[in-house]
Amino acid sequence: MSTEKSDQVETEVGSYFISNYPPFSQWSRESLPAAMAAMNKPPANVPLGLYLHIPFCRKRCKFCYFKVYTDQNATQVEEYLAALSREIELVSRLPVMGERPFRFVYFGGGTPSFLSGKQLERLVDRLRANINWDKAEEVTFECEPGTLSEPKINTLKELGVTRLSLGVENFSDTVLEENGRAHLSAEVYKAWKWIEAANFYNVNIDLIAGMVGETWENWRDCVRRTVELAPESVTIYQMELPFNTVYSKGILEEHAASPVADWPTKRAWVDYAFNELAAAGYSVSSAYTMIKDPQKVSFSYRDNLWQGSDLLATGVASFGHVSGVHYQNVAEWSEYVGTLDANAEDGGHLPLGRAMVPTAHQLLVRELILQLKRGYLRPAYFQEKFGVDVVAEWRDAWSRHEAAGLIEPGTLSASDATQDGAEIRLTRKGLLQVDGMLPAFFEPEHQGVRYT
Ligand SMILES: C[S@@+](CC[C@H](N)C(=O)[O-])C[C@H]1O[C@@H](n2cnc3c(N)ncnc32)[C@H](O)[C@@H]1O
Ligand code: SF4
Repeated sequence: MSTEKSDQVETEVGSYFISNYPPFSQWSRESLPAAMAAMNKPPANVPLGLYLHIPFCRKRCKFCYFKVYTDQNATQVEEYLAALSREIELVSRLPVMGERPFRFVYFGGGTPSFLSGKQLERLVDRLRANINWDKAEEVTFECEPGTLSEPKINTLKELGVTRLSLGVENFSDTVLEENGRAHLSAEVYKAWKWIEAANFYNVNIDLIAGMVGETWENWRDCVRRTVELAPESVTIYQMELPFNTVYSKGILEEHAASPVADWPTKRAWVDYAFNELAAAGYSVSSAYTMIKDPQKVSFSYRDNLWQGSDLLATGVASFGHVSGVHYQNVAEWSEYVGTLDANAEDGGHLPLGRAMVPTAHQLLVRELILQLKRGYLRPAYFQEKFGVDVVAEWRDAWSRHEAAGLIEPGTLSASDATQDGAEIRLTRKGLLQVDGMLPAFFEPEHQGVRYT
C-alpha cells in the first residue's frame, strides 16, 4: 500500500497511499471555475455517490494522517453538523445531481461513530430534508469500537446503514495503547455482540499490519481472532508513515530510526493473513480486502469510484469528482464553516478549495492504477471506454513488472485488448506491493513529484 520503490526496505517517513491521479499536489485554486462549471451542468451517464466527512475522534492515533479534531465540544460539533447540512442542501440543488439517485453513500472520517445517537438522528433528519439514500445499494458507516453502544448501533441500522466498518486495527492492548488508539480489545468484543445482533448486511474489520510493537506472535493471534469473529470482509492496510503523523514528526525531529517494521515484514504479515483467511473460506477482493462471500458482498463505493463514477464530497477537506473534474473542499475548519454560514450575505456557498481538470489520458491512468489494486485488469474495458490498448501503451512498464515476478506468467501475452475475457493478473507478490507498481504508469512529469 505504499509507493515505496521495490528496492526500498525500511518504512521511512513520507510513504503514502495512492488513491487518485494526477497527484493532489497538482490541484489548484485556478481550476475551481472548471469544477463549478461541471457542477452547474447536467450529469454524464455515470453512477452517483455521496461522501460525508465526520472529522472527530476521541484521540489522535500516532500513525494517523487524516484531517481530524480531537477536542471539540458539543457546541463545535453542532456548528460543524449545521455547516455540513447546509452544504448538502446546496449540493442537492446542483444541476449535476440530475435525476440520479445516490448509488452509494459513505460516512467516513475521522470517526462518524463519534457522534452521539441524538446528534446522528438530528443530522440525518436535516440531511433528509434535501436528499435521501433510499435507492442506494450501499451505505457505509465507519466506527471506532470504543464509541459504540447498543442503542447507537440500532440507530445506525434504522438510518439505513448496510455496511458497518469497524476500526479494530489490532487485538493487543499493549500495541493499541502504544499506537495511541482510544479503544482496547475488550471494547471490540463488547461491540461485536451488538453488531451481530443488529444483523447488518456487511460488516468489515480494519486491521493494520505493522503497528508499532507488532510481532509475528501477536500478528498470528490478531489474525486468529479476526477469523473467529468471521466478519463478511476484512481490510488489512500496511502501516504507512506519511509526513503528518505523530510518529513521523517524532522521527524527523529526533533523527530516530523508524519504529515501524520494514516492508518485507509487513508484506509477509499480510501474506500470512490472506492465507489464513483463504483457509477459512475468504476470497481476495483487492490488495487490501478479503471477503467471505463474493456472491453476496460487493463493494459499491470502491468499485464505482474505481470505474469513474461521480462522487459528491462533503465535509472539511473532502475529495470529490464530477463529470471528469477533481475537486477538494477547503481544509480548515473556520473557512469551511464560515463559507457555509447560512447567515452570510450570499446565504453561504460551496466550500471548494482546489480542483484539477484531468486530460482524457489522465482519466485513463487514474482508472488503470485504481483498478489494478483489485489484482487484475481487463484490457478490453479500457479499449472500449478510452479506445486505448493498455498493454501496448505501457509495454515497458508491464514487462518490467513481469520480469520482477509481479504479474502471473502468460497473462500479459494472452491479454489481447480486443478479446473480451482476457485479464492481466497480479501474482501474490505483485498484489502485496501493488502501490509500488503504480507510479510506473504515471506520466513522466508526475513520476518524481510530491504526491499530496
Ligand atoms: C478513518 S479510519 C476508520 C474509522 C475510525 N476512525 C477508526 O480508526 O477506528 C480509516 C482506517 O485507516 C487506516 N489507517 C489510518 N492511518 C493509517 C496509516 N498510517 N497506515 C495504514 N493505515 C492507516 C486504519 O486502518 C483505519 O481503520
Ligand atoms: S485512525 Fe481513526 S480513530 Fe485514529 S485518529 Fe485516524 S481517524 Fe481517528
